[in-house]
Amino acid sequence: MTISTADIRRKFFDYFSSHGHQLVPSSSLVPADDPTLLFTNAGMNQFKDVLLGAEKRSYNRAVSAQRCVRAGGKHNDLENVGYTARHHTFFEMLGNFSFGDYFKKEAIEFAWHFLTKELKLPEQKLLVTIYAEDDEAFDIWSQHIGVPAEKIIRISTSDNFWSMGDTGPCGPCSEIFYDHGEHIWGGPPGTPEEDGDRFIEIWNLVFMQYNRQADGTLEPLPKPSIDTGMGLERISAIMQDVHSNYEIDLFQALIKAAAEITGAKDLEDKSLRVVADHIRSCSFLIADGVLPSNEGRGYVLRRIIRRAVRHGYKLGAQDIFFYRLVDALIGQMGEAYPELKTQRSTIERVLKVEEEQFSRTLERGMQILQEALESLTDKTIPGELVFKLYDTYGFPADLTNDVAREKGFSIDEAGFEKAMAEQRKRAQQASNFGVDYNSQLSSYSSSEFTGYDQQSGEARILELFSTDSKVQQLESGEQGMVILDRTPFYAEAGGQVGDTGYLKLANGGFKITDTIKLGSAIAHKGIAEAPIKVGDKASLQIDAERRQAIKLNHSATHLLHAALKNVLGEHVNQKGSLVDPERLRFDFSHFEGVSAGQITEIEDLVNQQIRLNHPLTTKLMDLEEAKSAGAQALFGEKYDDQVRVVSMGDFSMELCGGTHVSQTGDIGLFRITSEGGIASGVRRIEAVTGAQALKFSQHQSQLLCDVAAQLKSDWHKLPERIGQLVEQSRNLEKEVQQLKQKMASQAGSDLLSDAYEINNVKVLSAKLEGVEPKSLRDLTDTLKNKMGSGILVLAVAGDNKVSLIAGVTNDLTAKVKAGELVNFVAQQVGGKGGGRPDMAQAGGSQPENLDQALASVSTWLQDKL
Ligand code: ALA
Repeated sequence: MTISTADIRRKFFDYFSSHGHQLVPSSSLVPADDPTLLFTNAGMNQFKDVLLGAEKRSYNRAVSAQRCVRAGGKHNDLENVGYTARHHTFFEMLGNFSFGDYFKKEAIEFAWHFLTKELKLPEQKLLVTIYAEDDEAFDIWSQHIGVPAEKIIRISTSDNFWSMGDTGPCGPCSEIFYDHGEHIWGGPPGTPEEDGDRFIEIWNLVFMQYNRQADGTLEPLPKPSIDTGMGLERISAIMQDVHSNYEIDLFQALIKAAAEITGAKDLEDKSLRVVADHIRSCSFLIADGVLPSNEGRGYVLRRIIRRAVRHGYKLGAQDIFFYRLVDALIGQMGEAYPELKTQRSTIERVLKVEEEQFSRTLERGMQILQEALESLTDKTIPGELVFKLYDTYGFPADLTNDVAREKGFSIDEAGFEKAMAEQRKRAQQASNFGVDYNSQLSSYSSSEFTGYDQQSGEARILELFSTDSKVQQLESGEQGMVILDRTPFYAEAGGQVGDTGYLKLANGGFKITDTIKLGSAIAHKGIAEAPIKVGDKASLQIDAERRQAIKLNHSATHLLHAALKNVLGEHVNQKGSLVDPERLRFDFSHFEGVSAGQITEIEDLVNQQIRLNHPLTTKLMDLEEAKSAGAQALFGEKYDDQVRVVSMGDFSMELCGGTHVSQTGDIGLFRITSEGGIASGVRRIEAVTGAQALKFSQHQSQLLCDVAAQLKSDWHKLPERIGQLVEQSRNLEKEVQQLKQKMASQAGSDLLSDAYEINNVKVLSAKLEGVEPKSLRDLTDTLKNKMGSGILVLAVAGDNKVSLIAGVTNDLTAKVKAGELVNFVAQQVGGKGGGRPDMAQAGGSQPENLDQALASVSTWLQDKL
């Protein structure tokens, strides 16, 4: 019996838990508060601040299985997935961590012990690498553990110096490799054959020692720490005695499910691997709140879904299929990741809608691409075509490349980028605060927030930034940012906008127009009214009225969130939120419009809670304690161990760092001003509170009164009055129609008296007064009927404009064509026309020639009849 992937995960947790490690759940794939990172790509991401010493936790040893995505951004494996044995868009990283507790020796001991004693891997199958200069690691491996010297390989490249990104925690590392055996080609790390598949890295032990600064310098961390990462899929492959990750139990189950759903017969088909890999990243990304879109994270998700869909159709899928794999995924991973179960219906619906949309253009796009592949003589697909497929048919460039590669083609990436750049240029927004201040901020700078109960206070200036760099002084009139040691100003977070206000100095001041977070510091943006410098003492005052309005909206947002769950169902989850002084905006998952009745119910419920006047309580709690008490936590938010829980009665309980009212009654009144869809499965509600809500209601009443006055009615009788008016206008329309018909037929009879005969054929050519050009066709039909057999030309003259029509009854069209006749007249009035032989229309621009033109008709006809 081989050990399952789930059992390996469990064993890892058990081993490290029994050695004093706190089991920490995987964080979201959407990194919290870290704009430098597209997706969580390593187990240490959620501990970055702990490693940097900027955040304290109640434990100093941790163990986790972290979900990671390496697609898009810096680490992008998307294009390799399916073609190699070990590339994935999604994988799980098992890791143990020490935050200033144990270091190299214990980290090496733990890893070796786990592999050789717990998993019972034969020692002779393992070898290790170390950073070239790390003699300490060499000694531990060789003397303490007993690994033969020839199996400890010194590597001098960045392969053995791990960094999270261009800045942040980093350090030398030591990697453990597994030898899959001689029957597979490849050489040990550091040899020219290292890219072969024989020696596979399974575990990376990083000895975290530095914080890399933006200029490249390495600042020592407050305490040396440990970060390790072992790919769960790789270790499972070894334990299950298979070579490719796709052969492990978890992937085999997904591959079988994909084969069943698409009808594929060959279980070795690369497309099955692609689909099995992609259902994992897509489902987890959606569970973590990412939705397909045309930019950023949403676009990476869209690219992965579309790539999976394309491969599915290649496998033979006849219908929308991708979402049907969620079931199998939950079977494999639902226990370890309960969010897959709770988010199931959202994941399925989002995948379904995205596939439906794409499948509409997929076929046509593929056809165009196939044609190009057949006709191109050189092996490169032009950038413009790649762009056209992207822009019109929704083919991400990597998808086009994927198809091209199968036929030995590549794409002109530079040409595509050029076309894309043009498009981006239009969309780009200039911002004078586009600088990466985070990297310039001193790592020790942090500001105490005093604004939960204060609106003013004294503080000292720690740091200053101009619009492009860190400075010692800002001049009068200069824009910039001020970092203070303590401040009552709330920094934009959790949807609540930053405070505005004033910073007063001994002589002059600084007008604060916005407040944001920078690491653990609070930055005040604005403009200096006098020179200010680092070290100055200042007194602060926030714009209290504005803050008060924000508080009302923030507390009402919590009530709305709870009311939505109550009225629409538990599937409602916050997808976005904006709280400013004017209004609140709340985006949430829900798959149909909210009816007028439900809107009223939601408003009623929120207002009821306002009138109950619950005191608002805030409490610091352990994250786990708060969650089990039922507090709402948000996707993609990073929470400390200690969280602030905001409650209103037993109606609402949320994790929140924002500022709130002291009693729900302070909100006064809550009104919803709009509801609508913003993306598939996401709705948006906008609402107002307090004075704004009263103003909104008054405005609505005023509108009703104005309308009532215009209709000379009372506002409460308006529905009846408007009903009457609609009915009346319908009747009038009918009457007008009848009258028009009557008049036309009358005019027809009158006109016929002007008809004359040419060779026994009835002919009428007439200029009409007071007739709409639009009714000429009807009139011609009527006259033709009345004549039985005959020819007619009618004209209406306006300012510089003539409208003409000619009609010929069917018995005469062999001799005279209406098109020719009307053209003959039109040419004489500066126009031209044509049409069917029995009816043709034309226009002209010289009404002054019309009489003569009509008179010439009889001569023209004489020759033909
Ligand atoms: N953070 C290290 C890695 O990702 C363990 O390899």
